[in-house]
Amino acid sequence: MKTVLIAAAAIIAVTGCASSFQSAPGIEATLAPTQGNSTTGNVVFSEAGGKVRVQANITGLTPGVHGFHIHEKGDCSAADATSAGGHFNPTGAPHGSPSSGAHHVGDMPMLLADEKGHAKLDTELTSLALQGPNSIVGRAVIVHAQADDFQTQPAGNAGARVACGVVEAK
Ligand code: CU
Ligand code: ZN
Repeated sequence: MKTVLIAAAAIIAVTGCASSFQSAPGIEATLAPTQGNSTTGNVVFSEAGGKVRVQANITGLTPGVHGFHIHEKGDCSAADATSAGGHFNPTGAPHGSPSSGAHHVGDMPMLLADEKGHAKLDTELTSLALQGPNSIVGRAVIVHAQADDFQTQPAGNAGARVACGVVEAK
């Protein structure tokens, strides 16, 4: 009986430890292409002094700039990724640039793809969070076919969704 209790306590200790890693680095989205596209990649999110660092490595894009957002629902099941819903907007703000004025929590800087279709982004954002009401965990990263004008409502006129991935602990 005593052995059983010790074993149970050990399991609780291990489980408790695992859940405390929630806010540590290891929150990621693996992006898969939507139908008819070939964009893939990976986005890593980590806490950095009250900000969230976003490190994206994306391939299979057309050269140039591409809208890049967190969308509300962690559901990439639709062929065109419309299942991910609109931009993640828990504060009821208008769409805009993350670097100036009001904007959705899910609004991020654009990706800039080189002539080989490869984009790398490494930025720190104050509006994203990995826990609490503005947490992006369980939501979706979306890459768009076109540029985000950061003005048109509600989504910056960035065109089709070319890749989608759920933000999750990995
Ligand atoms: Cu979007
Ligand atoms: Zn937006």
